Amino acid sequence: MSTTQGLELRSLISAEGVLTLSLVPAAYPEPGPDEVVVEVQAAPINPSDLGLLTGAADISTATVEGQGTSAVLTARVPPERMPAMAGRVGQSLPVGNEGAGKVVSAGASPEAQALVGKTVALIGGAMYARFRKIRVQDCLVLPDEATAADGASCFVNPLTALGFVETMRAEGHTAIVHTAAASNLGQMLNRICIADGIGLVNVVRSPAQAELLTKAGAAHVCDTSAASFKADLREALKATGATLAFDAIGGGRLVGDILSSMEIVANATAPVYSRYGSDTFKQAYIYGALDLGPTELVRSFGFSWSIGGWLLTPFLHKAGPEVAARLRQRVVSELKTTFASHYARTIPLTAVLDPGTLREFSRRATGEKFLIDPSLDA
Ligand SMILES: NC(=O)c1ccc[n+]([C@@H]2O[C@H](COP(=O)([O-])OP(=O)(O)OC[C@H]3O[C@@H](n4cnc5c(N)ncnc54)[C@H](OP(=O)(O)O)[C@@H]3O)[C@@H](O)[C@H]2O)c1
Repeated sequence: MSTTQGLELRSLISAEGVLTLSLVPAAYPEPGPDEVVVEVQAAPINPSDLGLLTGAADISTATVEGQGTSAVLTARVPPERMPAMAGRVGQSLPVGNEGAGKVVSAGASPEAQALVGKTVALIGGAMYARFRKIRVQDCLVLPDEATAADGASCFVNPLTALGFVETMRAEGHTAIVHTAAASNLGQMLNRICIADGIGLVNVVRSPAQAELLTKAGAAHVCDTSAASFKADLREALKATGATLAFDAIGGGRLVGDILSSMEIVANATAPVYSRYGSDTFKQAYIYGALDLGPTELVRSFGFSWSIGGWLLTPFLHKAGPEVAARLRQRVVSELKTTFASHYARTIPLTAVLDPGTLREFSRRATGEKFLIDPSLDA
């Protein structure tokens, strides 16, 4: 078996504050016994991929030199943002958390051999590449009728949405508040909660997003751009009993406002007044950074509360292999329904190096997710 040759997208930030994106040659020697080589045919550009791809660079400064696979895109990182990049300066990093494609070669083990010719979904980074060598255990075999595009986003957002529900149950809550709720992930969570009979308060920031979720069957949608937002939120919290929030935004006052609203709802039914606030425990998890500004808390929610971070990988480790397998199985079974993702455009790897295209998909806008198909560069 010969070495497979391909191209891989790399992101580098120099000490001088220059982001460089380029395609570099990559070689994939014969896979080990429990490994396969996959021709990547679909990989989504998710917000967390953008965090690595462009880092803190100001993409309005992006320019390109060269063409096609030799193109090199550069952009400036403002000096005040460089401290946040310290951990990656000088490292040429591969990008792309997840993807899907066809297994083109396999190691000697029966498990690896069984995958030859199959379309599989993959997790593990470095997916913005023509090929990816990967362990069998990091592949998910897609149903026969599913394409690589159908399975490209079947780890990160589906498992996170399911992880929220698992966390809710494990921590004794009965309903969920979710922000940036019209996101790809939010639409999945909405479908899960409808199917499973779980109360969900969807917080969005525009009437168009509210309409999207309402049409998808959401019972509670609160729009931060509406004058009635705080009253609407309190009504929805009262109706669902939600004491747990997952926040994708991070910056600003929204998390604190949600906790305050939970506290007002809890106090409305408290049998006796307490100067320390209600004894209803309120939990918020910040799981995204759509707003990089500081999280501002106006503490008007007593003392029975907590704010933490939530990340998929530590959640899966803590939940254990049986839970992870159960969640993965649900994703495969409901790949084209609950966990379907929609893409505004499918682009080749080389298009990532086009400044105009980069600026388009960096908007992280509702319904405008891009898919990379590296096989288009062949
Ligand atoms: N912690 C984890 O393990 C984990 C795992 C998976 C995903 N995530 C996070 O989940 C979030 C959603 O991912 P996705 O792929 O579903 O996103 P997506 O489909 O690209 O959607 C992004 C959404 O965020 C909204 N948005 C962007 N900036 C915002 C801001 N500053 N304030 C409020 N809303 C804003 C957009 O609305 P507009 O159209 O109005 O801009 C859009 O609805 C991301 O933050 C991602 O990093 C975290």
